[in-house]
Amino acid sequence: MTNTLRCVASLVLASAASAALAEFPDRPITLVVPFAAGGPTDKIARDLAEALRKPLGQTIVVDNAIGAGGTIGSAKVARATPDGYTLLVHHIGMATAPALYRKLSYKVPDDFETLGLINEAPSVVIGKPSLTANSFAELRQWIAANGSKVNIANAGLGSASHLCGLMFQNALKTTMTTVPYKGTAPAMTDLIGGQVDLMCEQAVNAVPQIEGKKVKTYGVTSLQRLPLPVLKDTPTLSEVGLKDFNVQVWHGLYAPKGTPAPVLARLNSALRAALNDPELIKREEALGLTVVTDDRLDPASHRKFVEAEKNRWAKVIKDAGEYAD
Ligand code: MLT
Repeated sequence: MTNTLRCVASLVLASAASAALAEFPDRPITLVVPFAAGGPTDKIARDLAEALRKPLGQTIVVDNAIGAGGTIGSAKVARATPDGYTLLVHHIGMATAPALYRKLSYKVPDDFETLGLINEAPSVVIGKPSLTANSFAELRQWIAANGSKVNIANAGLGSASHLCGLMFQNALKTTMTTVPYKGTAPAMTDLIGGQVDLMCEQAVNAVPQIEGKKVKTYGVTSLQRLPLPVLKDTPTLSEVGLKDFNVQVWHGLYAPKGTPAPVLARLNSALRAALNDPELIKREEALGLTVVTDDRLDPASHRKFVEAEKNRWAKVIKDAGEYAD
């Protein structure tokens, strides 16, 4: 092929690529949720998908790719074509997986583009309805008397419920029996049914069950009480004896590494528009969530935040001696 022809061909390819970028998105986008449908991550993702439809002008299809504490779904996105059509909503598990899974198939945050932080979510320690403990003090006595016979549900190693449960056991200086699920939705079913005793669940998923009086509530994991009607009288764990206990789950939006810069910019601006949607803000605040408005909405700050959280949790996990493999 002559040089002229080669130049023309590369010009045609370049203009086709830039046209494709200019048209992005011109087909539905897949939003991977690494936990089972019906859990907090899924609820937050579906809420975000609805709010992203308008700014992106495309349907967002949620894909629950579950298992292994969220690492299966995360690996799926790390391997996806970096064209902006496959995204990931994940939480604190993005930062904890490297310390928990020695054979993790992706690097954090290296194998992802950070698109911005979405929200921060407190959790609640909740119990099965048949528990006799009616206060945190009574629960603490029951746990001390039953030790490893107490079973606490979570969504797999590296899940938010696992990490909160780990911190809770460390603070109580006890070791319970952990029961992992593929998300806290199936775990909640067993808690309500009495098959497991306790769970440290994100308020976004616990609030409807507490409102329905299907579980018992013992304490919130934030340093301030939550202004939600159903939780306003629930103490923080810090005020009932676990001084400075503070576990805040955060959720962020990610794309595969190598997604073109113009696509990343388009996705970040759509995320900002979605998080400014008054309807979304009202829904999230009603579930105890705080929508991010600070600089962690900026991709570079989001990346720095994930790095800092990865280092912070690595120490907590090492001290607790927790590993998946
Ligand atoms: C977690 O515990 O990591 C999440 O709450 C699980 C889920 O969203 O189902």
